[in-house]
Amino acid sequence: MKKLITLLSVSIVFILFAISFNASAFDEPDGKQIFEDEKCNLCHSVSTVGIEAKTKKEAFKGPDLVNLADSFEADWIVKYLKKEADKDGKSHKKPFKGTDEELQALVDWLLEQKAEE
Ligand code: HEC
Repeated sequence: MKKLITLLSVSIVFILFAISFNASAFDEPDGKQIFEDEKCNLCHSVSTVGIEAKTKKEAFKGPDLVNLADSFEADWIVKYLKKEADKDGKSHKKPFKGTDEELQALVDWLLEQKAEE
């Protein structure tokens, strides 16, 4: 009987742990998912993860968003995507529509994308 109770409590602890682990994985915004949800992939490729810009119009197309970390700071990208900063006097075409938390997760994810030269 004692053994059974121990076994049961161990399983319950394990199940609770599994549930909370899963829940926190859901809470964490996923940069790649946000990139696709916000339709950044209409104009931008991210070649490190095989994302191809969908647009056929060359005039729309933006740069492949890899190796951003070599040229830009996270804070600047956040401002640029909120249209609070511009690049060479031009602001970004599309303002970011999601929350600040999503934007931060998106920018963190973008800064991790490093392509081999
Ligand atoms: C309608 C097309 C379009 C959409 C949609 C779009 N972009 Fe852009 N983006 C551009 C173009 C064009 C440029 C280049 C602008 C320039 O150099 O002045 C650019 C530039 C950028 C840059 C600067 C990169 C560099 O190397 O200069 C970043 C970062 C960026 N976009 C991220 C995003 C993100 C993240 C999203 C989704 C929230 C997004 N863009 C949605 C067209 C788009």
